[in-house]
Amino acid sequence: MKTNNFSNTATEGEYDQLSTIDMPDIDPNFAEDVQTGLQAEQKYLSSKYLYDKKGDAIFQQIMDMEEYYPTRCEYEIFELHKAEMLKHFGEGVDKFKLIEFGAGDGMKTKVLLKHFWKSSTSFDYVPIDISANIVKTLTKDLNENMPGLSVKGICDDYFRAFEKLDQSDEESRKVVLFLGANIGNFSSEESIDFLKKVASYLKSGDRLLIGFDLKKDPQTILNAYFDKNDITKSFKINLLERINRELGGNFDTSSFEYFPIYDPLEGSIRSHLVSKKEQEVYIEALQQTFHFDAWEAIFMERSQKYDLKDIHRMAEAAGFQCLHHFYDSKRYFTDSLWTLP
Ligand code: AVJ
Repeated sequence: MKTNNFSNTATEGEYDQLSTIDMPDIDPNFAEDVQTGLQAEQKYLSSKYLYDKKGDAIFQQIMDMEEYYPTRCEYEIFELHKAEMLKHFGEGVDKFKLIEFGAGDGMKTKVLLKHFWKSSTSFDYVPIDISANIVKTLTKDLNENMPGLSVKGICDDYFRAFEKLDQSDEESRKVVLFLGANIGNFSSEESIDFLKKVASYLKSGDRLLIGFDLKKDPQTILNAYFDKNDITKSFKINLLERINRELGGNFDTSSFEYFPIYDPLEGSIRSHLVSKKEQEVYIEALQQTFHFDAWEAIFMERSQKYDLKDIHRMAEAAGFQCLHHFYDSKRYFTDSLWTLP
């Protein structure tokens, strides 16, 4: 995997160089993971592979959908609470490092950044994303719109990126942002492992702001994943298309139906693609044929919903202490601020 460091001190020349970096979506584990998932007793495909170039574009459309409330809620949380967040982040220190996991287009974070930047707070913004294109575009955008803001983006896996952080100010507080309810894709064991790993890179007094989609009217939740324009369906179907594109598969995508369910006991959305007929699919890169029975399902994605008890339990299990929950006006979503004691 190619990795790149970007900083706001990049000259025009360096930008030219960045713009020629061609990061294909091809992931070295894709073929192997597809094989493991499709030959399993209960077929599955990992939701991390939904985000190729086309998937990123469809996800942008999802965030604009009327039914998909989480993005708007989190945006509102930042608008409402940015001043209080700044107080919490900077409390007792004169500068901090704001590290964002999976920065995306930074739409929501820009609300915070703008406020922090205007108040002349001393901090570095370190967006981390696996997509070089995203880090590059965001850095350029911030350099243009908030001159003087220190942006030190890293294109890598979250934890490898941690190892690459500027070590010269080891002592300064780290504030990690893990927004957008991305944690919801993990199972509960995976979340605890992930959070413990985050904790292992932090020291006492560092902070983690983490976005959780809250339990609410089950119909509202289900609608967010079962939109009337079938955009979410196309997001999932795109993964079959990606297999066709990158691995030489011959999925007939019209023979798969999209079917999400919400289980209010577990608080989880689980979404599936279901084969409408008995069929065989050949994948050239694997030189393998996969059989689908009629109405056999592929598990595609989990989107976990939480209540406060769940959140406190997770924080405790991973060794964190909850400091504050920031809510939107409907209390659909929370950004929860944790610290390491
Ligand atoms: C980006 C993982 C938070 O689970 O709500 C949106 C992805 N999938 N619609 C979510 C998603 C279908 C989203 N996360």
